[in-house]
Amino acid sequence: MNTNWVYIKDLKNHVDELVEFRGWVWNKRSSGKIAFLQLRDGTGFIQGVAEKKDFDDETFEKIRKIKMETSVILRGIVKKDERSPFDVELSIKYIEIVHEPEEDYPISKKEHGIDFLMENRHLWIRSRRQFHILKIRNEVIKAIRDFFNENDFVLIDTPIFTGSIGESAGNTFQLDYFDYGKVYLAQTGQLYLEAGAMAFGKVFNLGPTFRAEKSKTRRHLIEFWMNEAEVAFYRHEDNIKLQESLVNFIVNRVLANCEEDLIEIGRDVDKLQKVSLPFDRITYREAVTFLNKKGFDIKFGDDFGADEETVIASQFEKPVFVEKYPRKIKAFYMQPSDEDPEVVMCDDLLAPEGYGEIIGGSERIWDEKLLIERLKECNLPVEEYKWYIDLRKYGSVPHSGFGLGVERTIAWICGLEHIREAIPFARTLYRVYP
Ligand code: 4AD
Ligand code: MG
Repeated sequence: MNTNWVYIKDLKNHVDELVEFRGWVWNKRSSGKIAFLQLRDGTGFIQGVAEKKDFDDETFEKIRKIKMETSVILRGIVKKDERSPFDVELSIKYIEIVHEPEEDYPISKKEHGIDFLMENRHLWIRSRRQFHILKIRNEVIKAIRDFFNENDFVLIDTPIFTGSIGESAGNTFQLDYFDYGKVYLAQTGQLYLEAGAMAFGKVFNLGPTFRAEKSKTRRHLIEFWMNEAEVAFYRHEDNIKLQESLVNFIVNRVLANCEEDLIEIGRDVDKLQKVSLPFDRITYREAVTFLNKKGFDIKFGDDFGADEETVIASQFEKPVFVEKYPRKIKAFYMQPSDEDPEVVMCDDLLAPEGYGEIIGGSERIWDEKLLIERLKECNLPVEEYKWYIDLRKYGSVPHSGFGLGVERTIAWICGLEHIREAIPFARTLYRVYP
């Protein structure tokens, strides 16, 4: 018999038909006459029902005793079932066991500690909550690509091995590169995107970045994905508008295409629905005054930590820009303000609900002399930046850009307690396995 293989997400279009299911049994429960198999196939979760009367005794016993995570091919009739998130269940008529585990599956219904789950991340991603989170990640990344494609940006894939430090010297991964000597894993693709912007005007990238940060917080990964954009002739204001449009676009896409996933993981969707244009803005100087009123012992020139960011963001229902930080605490490439040379034309976008900085961006220094001066002030080796300085030698223009932390954005959208669940295989201070 030739039966149609149908994925769970499409089963609702096959009510009362005989179909083939291929996937896994992630849980089961049974009485004497009926067995309920909880099924998954990578597109969703449904219940399969096997009745004793449809099978010989031996087969039904096999079904009743089936082990968690057994892989199966089933055939059955699709039945309407309003209680199922996929509107259907499968009345099983035939079962073929593809592989039955010899040992019990290590992840059970009981509560497991986070270390155990991370140690078994290769299996944990099969679990429902993780499935929904990673589906949302998939949508966020799709949205990023669509946003830039729809707005005529050109993708410039930036390298991972780099000779020049892109952000700060304090947290680079160094390695030996044949005869060349010391190189770094990219902390950012920005410097290369700047070259791209001078060739293509509007450019973006999306790729992994690396920071040897000794911080063990719920916001830090060692390897994380960054989406960056860079635009020739854009100033600070244009840059801010681009950033808020991107974030607004991502959130709306997730709301439109992943509402079920958000609900399944218990996200308060109302909070995300508050996101709309334009976002609020405050300057660094205003933020310091505000924090002092709130009792923080902080002065101009201090950086904000997680606590400060949380208090600032809690004043707003949607992401808020903090603009114009002191030059001293920001990267070498940021353009100083004309009116207030102590600050640079930059912004951090802080997500609500304590998720902290999801974007860092700025106008870039486009004057050759000023750039060299800043490199020296920051003790960076000017000769390694020769190519970057070249961009200021030949038709230099004002330009601006930013980098969005993909996992931080996902952690906020999903309302996760920790960023490690926002990426399939997290690299944190103490974990590179699996
Ligand atoms: O603010 P950052 O360091 O900015 C840059 O690297 C710029 N060169 C980007 C640019 O202008 N093209 O990093 C950008 C974003 C942060 O706002 C944060 O969301 C995320 O990257 N990020 C991290 N995410 C997870 N773990 C870490 N250790 C992160 N460090 C930064
Ligand atoms: Mg930053």
